[in-house]
Amino acid sequence: MRRDRQGDPTVTSLATIPNTKVRTAIFPVAGLGTRFLPATKATPKELLPVIDRPLIQFAIDEARAAGIERMIFVSHPSKSAIERYVHTDTDLSETLRGRGKDSIADALDAAALDPDEEQVHFVMQDEPLGLGHAVLCAAEKALPGPVAVILPDDLIMGETGCLSEMIEAYGRAGAGHMVATMEVARDEVSAYGVLVPEGEMTGNVLKASGMVEKPAAEEAPSLQAVVGRYVLDGSIFDDLRHQEPGLGGEIQLTDSIARGAARVGLCGFRFSGSRFDCGSKAGMLRATLAYAGQRDEFQQVLRDHQPLALAAE
Ligand code: UTP
Repeated sequence: MRRDRQGDPTVTSLATIPNTKVRTAIFPVAGLGTRFLPATKATPKELLPVIDRPLIQFAIDEARAAGIERMIFVSHPSKSAIERYVHTDTDLSETLRGRGKDSIADALDAAALDPDEEQVHFVMQDEPLGLGHAVLCAAEKALPGPVAVILPDDLIMGETGCLSEMIEAYGRAGAGHMVATMEVARDEVSAYGVLVPEGEMTGNVLKASGMVEKPAAEEAPSLQAVVGRYVLDGSIFDDLRHQEPGLGGEIQLTDSIARGAARVGLCGFRFSGSRFDCGSKAGMLRATLAYAGQRDEFQQVLRDHQPLALAAE
């Protein structure tokens, strides 16, 4: 066991080593999904599929690949289909096996979360009071240390999962809050939280002094837009507890991140994958085409429809 020697400057006290291990992922899934109505009237947005794979499955797989120990879903009582979807369905698997469809049952079992083997929690956000409020709802269930937040409708496709990349960079970046960022056109900034940068990008990391939610194009502090992946210092929960409602009367996660920036540090992380806003119809269509492009079985369909798409332009 390691011992501290008092007065020896070469030995760091264990108490001063920051705990940078990210063990918890929070999935806020309680929103109304108004941009996707009427589809989201009875089907939660997070269960809308990209061909055959619901958005929430991409998010779960990304968290698993990043070594997350505990997953907390912040849901709404009207969205119980999410809970049914993510958990193992033994009856369905047995029925499939009884009909000789073992490979389908195996794939379902592998994709699902088994509460006997994995730490899965559902907490309810009874009213959609904002993303910050949703994250705060997970506070009691979060493990000590920094937490990851994944917005399932922001789909990021790439060879390495975005959260894996972020966690890998997090300890070295030296900032308590890390947010995934990408550069957007000036006329798009008003749809995003935007970083207030400090200096230049070093590798994939850009230090920042704060961030602003949905600034007007002419007032935007940069073109570095924040997308739905965050690694946040555990103190985010205290900041959220004291957070006044902001833009749209909602408790904004952005405001609490900005508030903690001076105390724990903030940086943007430029991820390597492609991001699709699947909360919007155009984004979902783009994601569907990109995903189809990765699968042999759809190559002919894409070829057949290319002339149609060009004719419509
Ligand atoms: P969005 O703002 O994209 O989701 O939030 P929304 O409000 O459901 O969508 P629109 O704008 O009405 O179409 C990003 C994520 O945060 C969750 C959403 O479910 C989504 O996964 N969220 C948002 C909550 O869990 N609670 C909230 O109060 C707000």
